[in-house]
Amino acid sequence: MPQVIIVDDEEALRVSLSQWLDLSGYTVRVHADAVTALETITPDFTGVILTDVKMPKLDGIAFTKSVLGIDRDIPVILMTGHGDVPMAVEAMKSGAYDFVEKPFEPTDILESLQRAIEKRKLVIENRTLRQQIAQQGTLDSRLIGNSPPMRLLKAEIANIASTEVPVLVSGETGTGKELVARAIHDLSTRSDRRFVAVNCAAIPESTAESELFGHEKGAFTGAAGRRIGWVEHADNGTLFLDEISSMPLALQAKLLRVIEEREIVRLGSNTPVKVNFRLICATNEDLPTAVADKQFREDLLFRINTFELQITPLRQRKGDLPLLFDIFAERAGETFDRPYEKPAASLWTSLSSHDWPGNVRELKNLAERYVLLTGNPDERWARLFGTGANTGTPSESDKSGSLAEQLRHFEQHVIRDALIRHDGNIKPVMDELDIPRRTLNEKMKKLDIRRAELE
Ligand SMILES: Nc1ncnc2c1ncn2[C@@H]1O[C@H](COP(=O)(O)OP(=O)(O)OP(=O)(O)O)[C@@H](O)[C@H]1O
Ligand SMILES: [Mg+2]
Repeated sequence: MPQVIIVDDEEALRVSLSQWLDLSGYTVRVHADAVTALETITPDFTGVILTDVKMPKLDGIAFTKSVLGIDRDIPVILMTGHGDVPMAVEAMKSGAYDFVEKPFEPTDILESLQRAIEKRKLVIENRTLRQQIAQQGTLDSRLIGNSPPMRLLKAEIANIASTEVPVLVSGETGTGKELVARAIHDLSTRSDRRFVAVNCAAIPESTAESELFGHEKGAFTGAAGRRIGWVEHADNGTLFLDEISSMPLALQAKLLRVIEEREIVRLGSNTPVKVNFRLICATNEDLPTAVADKQFREDLLFRINTFELQITPLRQRKGDLPLLFDIFAERAGETFDRPYEKPAASLWTSLSSHDWPGNVRELKNLAERYVLLTGNPDERWARLFGTGANTGTPSESDKSGSLAEQLRHFEQHVIRDALIRHDGNIKPVMDELDIPRRTLNEKMKKLDIRRAELE
């Protein structure tokens, strides 16, 4: 519903105009003076302002300037009295949308009002669109990877970032859980507030409560002064509880209370303090299993996992490997002031024959080492992977066993490699290896190669 704010010190005009606009389907707000009207204007105001010029306190011209200072695209239409026209023309030069001379019939302003509302709508739509594009850009530059699971992850982040729902980020070590948590915070409405990261595995059990919730002076021996806990520190911002499964059971009960009540009580105090935080938790353990093992409270799990983001391990999105390596190596090159020379394309296969138990962190490390090593790209690569440039052949460990076994390994290697390079698409692999679909399918079955793993 289009919104119109009417500002005029003359009551009769406010009443008649607002009634008429109300009947015409607008949502109307009236103010008798510009000062109170100004307090309600924010850059996300979606409507149009109709204002008188001559008013006590703040006049319409000064008011218009202040409104345009908040957002220069808010349409302001001036209702000018006799003799104010030259002033209104001046105001239009400095950004007012239109003016109408009093006295006027409501129908006289309808057209101008309608146009102003349309314009505002377009401005807001454009802004939202630009914001979405910018968000996608930030996400793409921060969370590298174009594999289907990464694209889905990024879409989900963009989708839930601006909501207030608690998010549980799960994934193996080094998959980017903290990175995801920060991205959610930075895309949220709390981005200008604190992001407080607490590693639950790193705080000793004996001091955990005071670290999280704070304490008053003298709360226990050694409590020399008041301490504000992490949760309170995150007030109005985001609280990131990393490795949540490591939280001692007794503390889990207290955390549950804090989440439910949205208030904390510092140790040694009886007074609850209201806290407003957005909760993001991360885990590399399977929490339902921890619940089954009585290591994690089920009620707490249900509180924190309103929305769950699962990060796929790197070995199941090997298509991301070259891009990640390239970007990490390039960045490392800049940091260490060494030029990054790309390895030959034929060498990339050794990236995909590794399983990456340390996930992206491991790959990042490797890319940095590559940049720091001396020698030409082939030599560096050989030192990293312990293989020569000819990585198209099976590695040392595959070279033992009967001829049949060695052949099997070799075939497995060649097919896997081709599938990875073609993002799991069968057709280009058939063409490249020059084998019919049926043979390829049979070989994949026999050699236990699954396409989903390789995309
Ligand atoms: N998709 C990605 N794009 C760019 N960098 C990434 C990506 N995923 C992870 N990283 C980088 O990898 C490293 C590990 O990421 P992060 O610390 O977020 O992982 P984690 O899941 O929290 O690991 P852990 O469980 O060990 O705490 C960081 O340097 C992070 O910036
Ligand atoms: Mg982490």
